[in-house]
Amino acid sequence: MLIGLDVGTSSMKALLVAPDGAVVASATREYAFETPRAGWAQTDPRIWRRAAIEVLRELAGHPRAAGVQAIGLTGQMHGLCLVGDDGEPLAPAIMWNDQRSAPQCERLERSIGTAELIARTGNRLLPGFTAPKWAWVMEHEPSIARAARHVLLPKDDVRFALTGTAATDMSDASGMLLLDCANRRWSESMCRDLKLPMDRLGTLHESHEVCAPLGASAAAATGLPAGLPIVAGAGDQAAQALGTGIIDDGQVSCTIGTSGVVFAAGDRWRASPDGNLHAFCHAMPGRWHLMGVMLSAGGSLQWARRTLTPDLAEAALSAGVDAYPLMIELAAAAPAGCDGLIFLPYLTGERSPHADPHARGAFLGLTPAHTRAHLIRAVLEGITMGLVDGLDAMRAIGLTPRSIRLSGGGARSAWWRQLLTDAFAVRTSTVQVTDGGAYGAALLAGIGTGCWQDAAHATRHLREQDECTPTGEPVAIERFRTAYRSVRPWFHEANR
Ligand code: XUL
Repeated sequence: MLIGLDVGTSSMKALLVAPDGAVVASATREYAFETPRAGWAQTDPRIWRRAAIEVLRELAGHPRAAGVQAIGLTGQMHGLCLVGDDGEPLAPAIMWNDQRSAPQCERLERSIGTAELIARTGNRLLPGFTAPKWAWVMEHEPSIARAARHVLLPKDDVRFALTGTAATDMSDASGMLLLDCANRRWSESMCRDLKLPMDRLGTLHESHEVCAPLGASAAAATGLPAGLPIVAGAGDQAAQALGTGIIDDGQVSCTIGTSGVVFAAGDRWRASPDGNLHAFCHAMPGRWHLMGVMLSAGGSLQWARRTLTPDLAEAALSAGVDAYPLMIELAAAAPAGCDGLIFLPYLTGERSPHADPHARGAFLGLTPAHTRAHLIRAVLEGITMGLVDGLDAMRAIGLTPRSIRLSGGGARSAWWRQLLTDAFAVRTSTVQVTDGGAYGAALLAGIGTGCWQDAAHATRHLREQDECTPTGEPVAIERFRTAYRSVRPWFHEANR
């Protein structure tokens, strides 16, 4: 039996997975993050540490947990967790969707140079990434930066709490912008320019490698055996890709959670020339991936649920059902193209293909004829167009996906799957696994401890389902792109 633990944005999830690939049990703890200022997103890492103990304890109570042989970790990427000499967090973790480091990014990009950054790391410096957050702390909280003994990512902070070992994996480390992704080693030049002593970073591992045993106090708190091997694991997107079978060159997936991700696996290193896609290590040795990331995909729909359909949300809550199917039913009543209404889904700025922390959400083209159904449909269409933008950035550098695997909450609706399929103009499907990130982490635990030989062996239990083919329905992507280009100067002026 294997455990996969996912330090998510809105919840901690743990899965107990059997050697035949079946999910035997799961445990979840929800939590929220703080937004003390516009554009900020942070959490006290102790909330994650506590939630991890709770979900592990819950799984440890399962009759089949006696056979657990390893734990794999995954989680939200890019967050900056600073740990002091006493092993305690020194400050709230600055999360992946936090935009406060935009000025540091601009300054560092100017001083290092965009081409040089891409040569060193494969990527541009974006406020979501970890390195500019460190630069922000150095500038605004220098005493905290000085006291930091370990600089960790969210899942690695949880690992530290469970084991006392500071370690990370290639895929998650890629999103720090401190890794030479092509050569799979820390970038000395980035650490030097960021004034980040390399000994503050954890040891670096391939995702399946065992890197620490469960410590005695975590064992006592969870009921799992001390010494249980913990493998390095992966960033949530690489783990999600593995957990849904996206492992071979040219395979592409699209995941709609709070963020929205288009992900292409590759068996050779390549960066996108202008850095408008992320180029990171995959969770397997000798594999990499390209990725387009929207910051508010499901996040835009969560906003719409709260502000446009609180009545549906309440009705769903009292009936004990999910509000999203009700919203989608409403949206389906509006015509395709929303009678000219466009929604730009950039509520928390955007990362790719527009590296634009100043972008914001917008409805454009409202008339008195528009109804609430139009607004919801426009939100769904806007998120879909943002994902097409990511896919087209891949097509622009020569990738031609023959099919796309959909996952995440957004893939649950047949109606939205058809909208995505038409917009991508490519066949889509899903697999039976729902919590792909935690599942991928469990697979890594199994690969690292001899349950499966490799990723292909570990993923052979996945079954393709929900196949969907494009209807040929035209999608108004150019109108969407023009809308963003037109309002971009206004966003920048307004946010200055
Ligand atoms: C990926 C990214 C998000 C977070 C949260 O680059 O920023 O997907 O990992 O899920």
